[in-house]
Amino acid sequence: MVNADVERILFTEEQIRERVRELAREIRAVFDPDGVYAVGVLTGAFVFLSDLIRQLDLPVEVGFVTATSYRDGTRPGALLTSAVGELRVAGRDVLLVEDILDTGRSLEAVQARLREAGARSLRTAVLLDKAERREVDVPVDFRGFEVPNEFLVGYGLDYAGRYRGLPYVGVLRRSVYEGV
Ligand code: IMP
Ligand code: MG
Repeated sequence: MVNADVERILFTEEQIRERVRELAREIRAVFDPDGVYAVGVLTGAFVFLSDLIRQLDLPVEVGFVTATSYRDGTRPGALLTSAVGELRVAGRDVLLVEDILDTGRSLEAVQARLREAGARSLRTAVLLDKAERREVDVPVDFRGFEVPNEFLVGYGLDYAGRYRGLPYVGVLRRSVYEGV
């Protein structure tokens, strides 16, 4: 059953599962067999991260960071990133995992933070790429699907905290956020 607020499904549960499996194969091929430190960007990436690590077939440690944009009038769109608990990435091969790449600003900030924290290597996996919206050029190593410039929900993606648990990725009806 499709949620009534979803205009159309972009990627079904099966399509996502297959693509995640392929990404895991690509990732496994480039990482050292002693393992990966997977870092997810909260909150949206937790679904993708949890499916991905179960397909990786490599020793995996998991950590999380948050990336929050704030506007105080003087620094529009500046980003605060912080680790959740301890993030011991120094000297480790890190795989940064994000749900969707939009302007690129959150990933840019998180990548900078992980480099500062002394990651030995840093690679980035994103499930969805809204390429048309990019404002900063961030390096991405593994990319699931390119998506149109529409508001998407499901498979971890939310609108106002809702819809993260939908098993597919869909386009949210405009009437939901335009209040019609
Ligand atoms: P960026 O910093 O502009 O690249 O923003 C990326 C973040 O914006 C993602 O981690 C999501 O949290 C959020 N985001 C961007 N596009 C969407 C969307 O279509 N649906 C839900 N969240 C989105
Ligand atoms: Mg996010």
